[in-house]
Amino acid sequence: MNILGLNAYHGDSAACLFVDGKLIAAAEEERFRRIKHWAGLPTSAINYVLEEAKLRLEEVDHIAINRKPGVNNLRRLEFVLTHWPHPRLIAQKIKNIRSAASVKETLQANYRIEIKAEVHHVEHHLAHLASAYLVSGFNEAACISIDGFGDFASTAFGVGQGSEVKIDNRVYFPHSLGIFYSALTQFLGFRHYGDEYKVMGLAPYGEPNYLEPLREVVRIRPDGTFRLNLKYFRHHIGNVSYTWKDCAPEVGTLYRRRLVGLLGPARRPDEPLEQKHKDIARSVQATYEKAFFALLQALHKQHPSDNLALAGGCAMNSVANGKVYRRTPFKKMYCPAAAGDAGGAIGAAAFVLSTLNSQLSTDTPLMTAYLGPDASEEEIHALIDWKKKEIADAGCTTSYIGDEEELVSKTAKALADGKIVGWFQGRMEWGPRALGNRSILADPRNAAIKDVLNAKIKRRESFRPFAPSILREEVAEWFETDDDVPFMTKVFQIRTKYRDMIPAVIHVDGTGRLQTVHKETNPRYYRLIEHFRDLTGVPLVLNTSFNESEPVVCYPEEALDCFLRTEMDILVLANFFLERKSA
Ligand SMILES: [Fe+2]
Repeated sequence: MNILGLNAYHGDSAACLFVDGKLIAAAEEERFRRIKHWAGLPTSAINYVLEEAKLRLEEVDHIAINRKPGVNNLRRLEFVLTHWPHPRLIAQKIKNIRSAASVKETLQANYRIEIKAEVHHVEHHLAHLASAYLVSGFNEAACISIDGFGDFASTAFGVGQGSEVKIDNRVYFPHSLGIFYSALTQFLGFRHYGDEYKVMGLAPYGEPNYLEPLREVVRIRPDGTFRLNLKYFRHHIGNVSYTWKDCAPEVGTLYRRRLVGLLGPARRPDEPLEQKHKDIARSVQATYEKAFFALLQALHKQHPSDNLALAGGCAMNSVANGKVYRRTPFKKMYCPAAAGDAGGAIGAAAFVLSTLNSQLSTDTPLMTAYLGPDASEEEIHALIDWKKKEIADAGCTTSYIGDEEELVSKTAKALADGKIVGWFQGRMEWGPRALGNRSILADPRNAAIKDVLNAKIKRRESFRPFAPSILREEVAEWFETDDDVPFMTKVFQIRTKYRDMIPAVIHVDGTGRLQTVHKETNPRYYRLIEHFRDLTGVPLVLNTSFNESEPVVCYPEEALDCFLRTEMDILVLANFFLERKSA
């Protein structure tokens, strides 16, 4: 029995495939289409996951989608009757619901086949909860989804017991912590869909001087839930345009001018970042954390478990996630590799599997994100052959190193010598983070490497920190919290004694957004870091995603193109070692 999971007509469209209860493949559409956060029907991702299992769409038994048109309709009606939103908002919502409802028809029209699969619509937040709980390895857990919006709700409390997960409370539209964070992200001049992490990165440079006015914007209620003060927002009155230009999501302004009266003028994207912007960022993050921990405390009161399963777009706030053990009674937390909407594809499929009484034989807890396309040695060889003139013109040499120990030892040596290394290995990562298969690596001891990376390759804002990949066994020694963080979903404090040793991966507040590297899930990356440790005494490397302001590279040709057009020193494509002569 097989089941295709989809997140469609939503940012980060994606597909996954379970066969006989096992998760075979999962990928986001943006990687194939090369447009960030691509938001239509993910046909390339569908084609890929089917190809991985050697299946045709006609042979799929079940299709699960993370939207349930019609759910929470009474709440919708109540909202329309009490708020009288602009007809454009209603029309926009109806159009989007119709797209989600007609996935089967659209697939049939696209593929020109008759689909025999039974289609299951899973409520958006139930899919988020399932994406964390059902693969967490927990026997029971308190579950929460914190988000922008989906199926007319922004937040859902729930509980997982055995193979079941259910929702027992929701925060409905228009109240949303995701909208709060997005609106203030826009206010600070970061206008692109998905820019919230920039505010999170900027926050430690500021002081929380705007907490008091923001208390006016997000009101925490005695039961732990929250309300937005709607007079500062526009998303509920219908003047916000949600467009998908070429399927790249764009969101109109979410805040009202009244916010300027409260916080001062909004920053234009081309204006310099001043101290007050940093202070607002810090205050936004602190306000979010206050609401987040109030929700978690309320959830724990309702479901007093040691275990927490966390998902939804806001679960990408790794800074807040990193404080959960200190600020709540939870002792163990699982947050999936794709906590945002892409993850709903796995959540919807896993939920349907659980209702079909089919055993979920995914290795749980799901600790690997290596679920995307791979490239064979022959393909890479053919690519290098085809591009040999361009490679030579760029002053690069190519060698084949079949012996893994030699390959990782040579790469570790290059890193320790200050080289920037493109590292392309095995299957592409699922979720937004590069986790050592589509990564750019560098020496964390080199304070100057951040500027070099930004100037030569990444061209991103200088305030954003780079992250460390650390051997799992070394976490307790180097960080103040010891935990598995295989998907970079938590930020922990780095022990004071090591802070001066690894300036390139330490944020201004002494934290690091770590990835724990496990021998079992990525043995080659683990060996590389071991070699680096043997050379330097430091059991971690700087890891940033393999891209240059585009989606993370998927195929070797994209990695090679990125290497050739930037000033990366070395590219390791599986066993092929490319080096710039000048490097
Ligand atoms: Fe969502």
